[in-house]
Amino acid sequence: MNNPRDQWTFLHVNDSHMGTPRSYRFRPAVNQRWAAIKAQIEKEPADLLLHGGDLTRDGQTHRFEIEQAADDLKTIPFPIHVIPGNMDVGNKHTHVNGKKKRWDPLGLGWHDPELNMTSERLDLFAEHFGDINWTFTHRDVRFTGFYAAVAGSGLKQEDQFWEFLESLPELESTRHHVAVMHYWLFMEDPEEPDWDLTDEDEYDNWYFSISPPHRQRIWELLTRAQVDILFCGHVHTARPVQELEGIRIYRTQAAGNTAQLTDRWEEYDTRFGYHRCTVTEGQINVEFILGNDQCEEFGTYGPLGHPRVEDRDYSVATEQPPISPD
Ligand SMILES: [Fe+2]
Ligand SMILES: [Fe+2]
Repeated sequence: MNNPRDQWTFLHVNDSHMGTPRSYRFRPAVNQRWAAIKAQIEKEPADLLLHGGDLTRDGQTHRFEIEQAADDLKTIPFPIHVIPGNMDVGNKHTHVNGKKKRWDPLGLGWHDPELNMTSERLDLFAEHFGDINWTFTHRDVRFTGFYAAVAGSGLKQEDQFWEFLESLPELESTRHHVAVMHYWLFMEDPEEPDWDLTDEDEYDNWYFSISPPHRQRIWELLTRAQVDILFCGHVHTARPVQELEGIRIYRTQAAGNTAQLTDRWEEYDTRFGYHRCTVTEGQINVEFILGNDQCEEFGTYGPLGHPRVEDRDYSVATEQPPISPD
């Protein structure tokens, strides 16, 4: 029998971004930072691990990386509950004036529309990691994970997502409710504007957060479902905890990939690590655990951003044979 007075722990991690030297681009430092964090996680006396997405560098076009990430997690000796990130299944869909459109607002050769998520990719991810949306209870804590970026996509997974999210407030209530998503639901406030991806001053806000009206609808459902802790990754930069309408929002550090948007706030954390959550009778204490390897970048090759498949050069792979895009 579980004694509810017992203290126990669960872990959260996100943005491990494991890549491969068989690809057109690779950052050995990211793999090395993640390997250290995973070794630390394996030694934790935890009941379970939540992974908040972006397990891969380019899983969106490399099935190999999805399989590699699934194999990699097999050494963790407790249950793992995973949601996808955009690098695993594709980006939030790019719409301009209501139409999906090629758009490269910063002139960086980013071709987001070509990396819009697809139903097939979401299905592939689910084959390896289980349902995209999940909710379960453990020791009087409800855990919920979902990929909110499907909102507005029109894919079959969007219908499944809303049906799932609408069901949450009806479920049996528990002492705590912890939710995991990949994108930030909003940058600062649920009522902030609908960011314009064609405006270069707003593009980052558009790219990193969920757009109205989905943002407000999700927020309302999470509050009605009595979520009290919400983890968001994707930006790779941690911000101070935000408390809003009874929800503690943790915008978290990455488990290997570089922090972004660091020029806009005074308080942020760019270190690599994971989150140890200690549950006692009345509360959940979330603590950042520093990864044992904070190595600098080394041996990096290949382009940044979101290059088109036809612009990639796989002949530069440092391990043979190179993989190829699916
Ligand atoms: Fe990421
Ligand atoms: Fe991401």
